[in-house]
Amino acid sequence: MEVVIAPAEELARLAAGAVEGLLRAKPDAVLGLATGSSPLAVYDELARRHKEGLSFARARAFMLDEYVGLPADHPERYRNVIEKEIASRVDFPPDAVQGPDGLAADLPAACAAYEEAIAGAGGVDLQILGIGTDGHIAFNEPGSSLASRTRIKTLTRQTREDNARFFGGSVEDVPRHCLTQGLATIMEARHLVLLATGRAKAEAVHQLVEGPVSAMWPATIMQLHPHATVLVDDAAASRLQ
Ligand code: F6R
Repeated sequence: MEVVIAPAEELARLAAGAVEGLLRAKPDAVLGLATGSSPLAVYDELARRHKEGLSFARARAFMLDEYVGLPADHPERYRNVIEKEIASRVDFPPDAVQGPDGLAADLPAACAAYEEAIAGAGGVDLQILGIGTDGHIAFNEPGSSLASRTRIKTLTRQTREDNARFFGGSVEDVPRHCLTQGLATIMEARHLVLLATGRAKAEAVHQLVEGPVSAMWPATIMQLHPHATVLVDDAAASRLQ
């Protein structure tokens, strides 16, 4: 696992540079997209690079996770967030960006179909990740099986409190359930690029980099990945030895 400590703007450039390098070498690459605050500067940088000629016209992308039950037009539905923050700003082909269907009548079937779609696309080449203050990646909360696949999960109170800022500050408005790629699903991506900034992430980053691999800090499974890049600012790195 390579750990880079740098200012947030530099981290965004490094992550965008990894995506650009991949797309230039493999224009039909499969990207893995995260939501939340952490990747926003990366998406800004990718949108900027797209204006300078970086093309996503042959690429595809899979989202990490989705809330269960948010109406199709809800601005915080992750499908809509990804559309706004990156998909609509670059030239992905129509329907090239997929996410788990949090409105499916049969959620387990939707999860299985999502796994098949990722596998059918040949797997994810580069997965962008954030990390929760409780150490989750995607929505694999503490206690998630290290062998987990895409499934329904219950969000922890801590995650719902962390995400209340996207719902007008109301924890009660944050959905209780989500569909998320599993840890084993994520580990099959060929390159993992995790971004973390701010002191609130310091404990999770400490566990990720220096803790024992444990389902109680799910991101620690990244220690077993052959190509994992962890991009952190000084505050997020403040508990590293
Ligand atoms: C979002 C996701 C989550 C976030 C994490 C950090 O798709 O998978 O794991 O990456 O909750 O969120 P932010 O970046 O908002 O601190």
